[in-house]
Amino acid sequence: MLKIPFMKKGLLSIDVGFRNIKIVEVTLKNSNEIFIENFGIAATPRNCIKNGAIKDVETVTKEIEKVIHANNLASKNAKIVMSGTNIISRIFMVEKHPGENMDAIVKATVAQFMPINTEDHQIDYKILQEIKDKDFTRVKVFVTAVHKKIIQSYIDILLKLGLKPISVDIPANSTAKFFNREIKVNEAESVYRRQKYGKLNDSTFAVLDFGSETTIVNILKDGVLEFNKVILCGSSNLDDVIAQAVDKKPEEAERMKKMYGMTVPGLNASEEQEKMFAAMRDMIDNVIKQIYQCFDFYEKRCYGEKIGRIYVIGGGSLLKGLREYLEERLAIPVYPVGLLSIDGVNIKEGLDREKLNFLINSVGITL
Ligand SMILES: Nc1ncnc2c1ncn2[C@@H]1O[C@H](COP(=O)(O)OP(=O)(O)OP(=O)(O)O)[C@@H](O)[C@H]1O
Ligand SMILES: [Mg+2]
Repeated sequence: MLKIPFMKKGLLSIDVGFRNIKIVEVTLKNSNEIFIENFGIAATPRNCIKNGAIKDVETVTKEIEKVIHANNLASKNAKIVMSGTNIISRIFMVEKHPGENMDAIVKATVAQFMPINTEDHQIDYKILQEIKDKDFTRVKVFVTAVHKKIIQSYIDILLKLGLKPISVDIPANSTAKFFNREIKVNEAESVYRRQKYGKLNDSTFAVLDFGSETTIVNILKDGVLEFNKVILCGSSNLDDVIAQAVDKKPEEAERMKKMYGMTVPGLNASEEQEKMFAAMRDMIDNVIKQIYQCFDFYEKRCYGEKIGRIYVIGGGSLLKGLREYLEERLAIPVYPVGLLSIDGVNIKEGLDREKLNFLINSVGITL
């Protein structure tokens, strides 16, 4: 009998962030394993994205084409993740009586409680939990809504590139897919953390995506996304407050941010460094406050459990000292993804693992 050799299936995955476009090429080994063959990152052309939609399809397409050529990315099947700025998500507890249709219940709930036109939006939902009552079932659903025009702008990009669109997804879904698997934390780190924090809740954790315009809070329980909120403040806002504090251009402020990070100024620090630190700390404290409110809301109002760990992703998570600062403020251990090994996700020898922080969403949707 003739045996057909195992065909490796290639897939291109594109994450269009406000600041950076990330493209990965993966091969799917079987239904549950991926191999990152290659990737490329380029700056998103300025003024091309507005309110989460691609305004200038032409320019963005050209930039993506450059990355594809420079990195010899050859696969034609493609998935794309949209920018997080204009996605609305909510968790609802609804009642489902026998014979009722879940789609209709969700549609009616959205129409009543979400400030959107249900005809113009693509509405998706996931059932998180079902609790049987006497005559009906209480259903906890996670609902997301995105304007159809926004989705179309991303499909247009794939078509213009001559690629075959497989899906358009939101960052929360790709993050959830990535972290839905068995995660192993570097042992040395983990022993230290366990001593410091005692017994941790292993089943509930948060993933914080520090992007350029947004900070996205995701909470997963037993591998399922149970909470998501997009905070409209990101790492580029730090550039702005630094620029203002030390009277420099935002580009120079960004350079200083990357160089000094959240390092507490020492005795010999310049006045400039002190001003910069104070400005950054104020802004980061404000974001942490909002993150804390999300955790609190999840634990108290969404029937959630205590969050046992935090994983940080996104370019902004590389800020020096941020991890330690978050940990101190929230009293929850914080891990960067570089320290993790994730079941079924393998990366080609020689590729820069540090860059993984940027690639979670593009890798996530391939799973
Ligand atoms: N080493 C570093 N230290 C501090 N900040 C960094 C570092 N490297 C990158 N950043 C910041 O990360 C941000 C870009 O991150 P990322 O690529 O995840 O954003 P994005 O996905 O384009 O944005 P969004 O998710 O908001 O659409 C920039 O603001 C950049 O200044
Ligand atoms: Mg992003």
